[in-house]
Amino acid sequence: MSHFKLIAASLAVISLVACKGGDSVKPPAETSIGTVSNKPVIKYDKFTYSNYDKVQMTHLDLDLDVDFDRKVLSGTAEIEFKRLDKAANELVLDTKDLTIRSVQIHQSGSWKDATYALSDADKTMGQALTILLLEDADKARISYETGPGAEGLQWLSPAQTAGKKHPFLFSQAQAINARTMTPVQDTPAVRITYSATLRTPPELIALMSADQDPNTPRDGEYEFDMPQPIPPYLLAIAAGDIKFKAINDHIGVYAEDYILEESAEEFSETPDMEVANTELYGPYRWGRYDLIVLPPSFPYGGMENPRLSFLTPTLVAGDKSLTNVVAHELAHSWSGNLVTNSSWLDSWLNEGFTSYVENRVMESLYGVERATMEQALDMEGLKRGLKEAKRPELTHLKMPEDITHPDDAFTSVAYIKGANFLFFLEDRFGRDVFDPFLKDYFDTYAFQSVTTEDFLDYLSENLREDHPDAVTDAEINAWVYGPGLPDTARNPVSSAFEKVSAVQAKWLAKEVAAKDIDVASWSTHEWLHFINSMPDGLTRAQLKELDEAFSFTGTKNAETAFAWYMQTIKADYKAANPALRKFLMTVGRGKFIYRLYGALQSNGKADWANKVYQKARPGYHPIAQRRIDAILEQ
Ligand code: BES
Ligand code: ZN
Repeated sequence: MSHFKLIAASLAVISLVACKGGDSVKPPAETSIGTVSNKPVIKYDKFTYSNYDKVQMTHLDLDLDVDFDRKVLSGTAEIEFKRLDKAANELVLDTKDLTIRSVQIHQSGSWKDATYALSDADKTMGQALTILLLEDADKARISYETGPGAEGLQWLSPAQTAGKKHPFLFSQAQAINARTMTPVQDTPAVRITYSATLRTPPELIALMSADQDPNTPRDGEYEFDMPQPIPPYLLAIAAGDIKFKAINDHIGVYAEDYILEESAEEFSETPDMEVANTELYGPYRWGRYDLIVLPPSFPYGGMENPRLSFLTPTLVAGDKSLTNVVAHELAHSWSGNLVTNSSWLDSWLNEGFTSYVENRVMESLYGVERATMEQALDMEGLKRGLKEAKRPELTHLKMPEDITHPDDAFTSVAYIKGANFLFFLEDRFGRDVFDPFLKDYFDTYAFQSVTTEDFLDYLSENLREDHPDAVTDAEINAWVYGPGLPDTARNPVSSAFEKVSAVQAKWLAKEVAAKDIDVASWSTHEWLHFINSMPDGLTRAQLKELDEAFSFTGTKNAETAFAWYMQTIKADYKAANPALRKFLMTVGRGKFIYRLYGALQSNGKADWANKVYQKARPGYHPIAQRRIDAILEQ
C-alpha cells in the first residue's frame, strides 16, 4: 500500500467511527472528503469543463423559485470552493442551457461583481462558465435560471399527472445533467455538501436528495440540508401533489395519492433489504431512506438519489416481483453513492458492484433460487447486449476514451459483466474472504471517488497478496480490459428455468398445447424466461395461441408486457398493436421504450413507430426524447 493510500485509509476509518449510529450521521471531517488532500488530483474525467484539478467546489447553496408557469428554476447558486493549486486564478464550472444573469465573488469579507465568461455551447457538454478569482476570493454567487428544455428536468402539466389537479416536476441529474439545473463542477470526481431553499406553489410538496421531514407543513417554502458530501449527479428535486406513508421509523414512500397505499405495500420489505445490506457491508450512513414513486414518464427503473431513491411506477406490480430495483437503488448507498466512480468510463464500479450487491441482498431475503433466476435473466440480457455491441471495446468493463456521451457507458456490460466479474472473484476467493474484503473496500473509500485502477490495486494489495493462487493477472485483465464474456464466468443454472425450458421445447415441438401447460406456480421470472428464450421465427399463429392461453397482450406487469411486445413486433402479431401503442403512450421507462422503438424500426415498422412517437413524444422525458430521436433517425 502506498503512503498516500495509507493516510487515506486511516482517515476513512476515523470518519467511519464518526458516522456510526444510523440517523445521527455526521458529515465526515473535511480531510476525508475525496482523496484531494492525500493524492495529487489530475483531471481524469473528460465529460466536465471544470478545473477540478486546481480549484474544487466544496459546498453548494441553492435558493430557487420553482416556476411552473415558465417551467424554470430561477434564483441563485452560491458556491464554496478550495484551491488545490494556490496559483489558480479562475473557477471553471459546467452549465448547460442556463441563463446567467450575474456573477459575484466573495472577497475580503464582501461581495463584488465578478469577471466571467461563457464558452460556446456544445450539444453534449454545454458551456464552461469561467469566473475570474481575485486572490483571496472564497465564494462565488451566480444568479441564473434554467432553460425550459433543460434535459435534467421534466415539467409535467396537471393533465400529465394522475391527480390531474397540480403540476409535477422531477429532476434526473445522472450522468451529466446536474449542469442543466445549476452551475456546478459536474463530475463524479468532486464531492459537495449542499443546502437549498425551494419555493413552490403552496399546495405542492418539494423534496430533495437531502434531509427530509415527512411531516413538513405544506406552505410552499422548503429548506434542505445535505451534510454528507455527494457527487453532483446525486443532486435531485421533486415537487408535486405528493403524499407520504411510513414503512418504518426511517423508511417510507412518497407518491401521488392514487398509488401511495399500493406502493407502501409493494415495497414493504425495504427494511429487510437495508438489514441484509448492512449485515454484508456495514452501516447505512445516510440517515433516512425514502422512496418516491414518480409519474410513469420517469425514464429509469430507479435512480439512487441519496436518502430518496426515485422509482418508476411500473415497479408496482402487485406481487413484489420487481422489487430487485429497490434492492439495487438501496445498494447504491454503498456502491456508487459512498464509493463513486471517478469518471463515467469507470461506470461499472458503480453499476456492476451495485448489481452484484443487489443480487446478494435478493438472495438473502428470498433465497438462492430467486437470486439465480435473476442472474440467469440478466445473463440472457448480457449475451444479447454483447452480440449487439458495435465494436469490441464497448464490451470492456473499462470503457474506451473515445465514447462521446456518458450514457453510452451504461450498457449491460457495466451492469451484468461487471456483476459477473465480482461473482467470479467471489467464487474464487470464497464468501468468507470476499465479503469482508468488499466491506473493507467500501469503508476505505467511503465518501471518495475511485478509478478502475484504484480498485484493481486495492484488490491486489488486500486480497490477492494473501491468496496468490486464486486468480491470475490474465484472468483479471480479460474481465476488465478484454472483450466479451470471459470463459471464467459463472453459469447460473436455475432448476425452475430448466423446467420452463423443457415445457417450452415441448410446446415448440407441438407435443403440448399452450393451454395445457401447467403454469399455476410460475412467477414473473419464469414467465420472463419463457417469453425471452423463444427462438427466432415464431409465427403469428403461435403467438395467437400463447396469447389466448395466457392473455399476455395488455398484461399489467410491465416487464412481462415488454418481453411480450418484443416478440409480437418480431412476428408482426398485429392483434397486440393497440396495447403496444397504449404502453408506448403511457410508459416512459427507457429500458422498455428504447428497445421497443428500436425493434419496430428494424422490423420494417418505422412508419407506425413514428406515428406513435409523434403523439407520445411530448409526454416523454427530455432524456428519452433525445435517445428515441436518435433511434428513429437511423
Ligand atoms: N443509476 C441508474 C440509473 C441511471 C443510469 C441514470 C445511467 C442515468 C444514467 C440506476 O441505479 C439503475 O441502474 N437503474 C436501473 C435498475 C437496475 C435494477 C438495473 C434501471 O433504471 O433500470
Ligand atoms: Zn444502478
